[in-house]
Amino acid sequence: MSYIYLKNASELVTVAGHSEKPAKKEKMSDIGIIENGSVLAKDGVIIAVGTDATLQEQYAEEIKQAEVVDATGKIVTPGLVDPHTHIVYAGTRENEYAMRLEGQTYMEIMNAGGGIHATTRATQAASFEELYEQSKERLDKMLLNGITTIEAKSGYGLTLEHELKQLEVAKKLNEDHYMDLVSTFMGAHAVPLEYKEKPEEFVDLVINEMLPVVAEKKLAVFNDVFCERGVFTPEQSKRVLEAGKQYGLIPKIHADEIEPYGGAETAGEVKAISAEHLLRASDDGIKAMADNDVIGVVLPGTAFFLMADYAEARKMIDNGVALALSTDANPGSSPTLSLQFIMNLGCLEMGMTPEEVITATTINAAHAINEADKIGSIEVGKQADFTMFDVKNHLMLSYQYGMNHAQTVVKKGKVVVKDRHII
Ligand code: NIG
Ligand code: FE
Repeated sequence: MSYIYLKNASELVTVAGHSEKPAKKEKMSDIGIIENGSVLAKDGVIIAVGTDATLQEQYAEEIKQAEVVDATGKIVTPGLVDPHTHIVYAGTRENEYAMRLEGQTYMEIMNAGGGIHATTRATQAASFEELYEQSKERLDKMLLNGITTIEAKSGYGLTLEHELKQLEVAKKLNEDHYMDLVSTFMGAHAVPLEYKEKPEEFVDLVINEMLPVVAEKKLAVFNDVFCERGVFTPEQSKRVLEAGKQYGLIPKIHADEIEPYGGAETAGEVKAISAEHLLRASDDGIKAMADNDVIGVVLPGTAFFLMADYAEARKMIDNGVALALSTDANPGSSPTLSLQFIMNLGCLEMGMTPEEVITATTINAAHAINEADKIGSIEVGKQADFTMFDVKNHLMLSYQYGMNHAQTVVKKGKVVVKDRHII
C-alpha cells in the first residue's frame, strides 16, 4: 500500500461536481476551492479530500504512512489535461514562421506544398525511433508544465504505413512515459499533393483502407478531420466521421479554423464529441453545438501564432457550449507546449474568467477526450493526478503570464516532477 498526502494548499482547486456532464455557463465558474485544503490518495486513487484539519483528524494513521508533499502557500489543481495536440511529428517549420512574418498566409504556404505537407514529408522520412525521441522530449516539457494527460492526433503520415507509425509511437509513449496519451486518428488532415486533383479518392482511401486497420489494431479512440475550404468539405468530413462511427471511433472535427465553412454545424449533425478551433464559427454553428452537446475545444495559441481573430469563447459559453482549452501543440500553427499560456490567452483575448479557464483545462478537457470518469477533478475515486503551482491563489495563474508556475506534479499517486525536475 502506498499513500501520498498533499497537504495544506492555500487553495485546493478541486473542480468537483462536473464529472457526469461537462460544465456549462455559470457552472464553468464553479471550481470547488478548498482553502487550507489537502488530498490523500492510496495506490494512485484519491481516498479523501477536505481541509487539512479534517483530514489530519480523520486519517491520522494513513497520513503517518504517507509520502507528504507540503503545499503550504501554493495551489494544487487536478493535473492539467490538454485535449487537442499533434504532438507526434518530426522536424520544425521556423522557416514558414519567417515567411508568415513577411506576409504570406498559412493556407498559401500549405497550398504551395509546405505547411502540413512539409511536416508530413519529415514525419514519413523519420524512423520510429526518431519520431519517438522527438515526441518524448515534448512530452517531458509538457509534464514539467503541469500537464498529465493529452490527446494526440495522427495526420502527418497520410499513408496507411506512416499513419500507423505515428499511432504506434503514441501508443509506446503512452506505455513508457508518465504522461497519458489518448489517441485520435486523423488520416483526413490534408489532401496529399498527389491527390490534389482527386480528393474523393483520398477520402475513399481513408475510409476503406486506413480506418478499418486503425480500428482493428485499436490504435485510436477518436476520428478527426480538417474541415476547411481547400482541405475537406463538410460533406467529405461527414463521410469520414460517419464511417469512423461504424468502427466505434468517436468523431471530432477541426472546424471553422480559417474561414466560416459549416464545420460547427457538421459537428452537430454527426454528434461529434467535440468541435475544435472554431475561430470563425457561425452563430448557427454555435447553436448546433449547444443543442447537440458538442464540446467546444478552443485553441487561442493558434489565433495568437497565426495572427488571426480569436474564437468567440465568451459568446459560446453564454450560449450554452461547454468549453475546453488546448494548446493545439504542432509545428505549424501553434508550436507551444504551455497550457498555462493558453489560460492567459483565454482570459486576455477571449473574455474568459480565471475560473473558467481552469475548468476548461481540467474537467471539461477531460470530457472532451471521454476521460472525465477518471481524471480532470480532485474527487474521491478519481486518479491521483495533481499539479502544484508555486502561486498563492488561482488568479495568479492567469495573471503572471508567459511563465511556468508548475513546481510539483503527481501522476497516478507518484511524484513525477519535483522542484521543476522530472524524477
Ligand atoms: O490544428 N488545422 C490543421 N491542423 C493543425 C495544424 C497543423 C500544421 O500546421 O502542421 C491545427 O492547426
Ligand atoms: Fe489541430
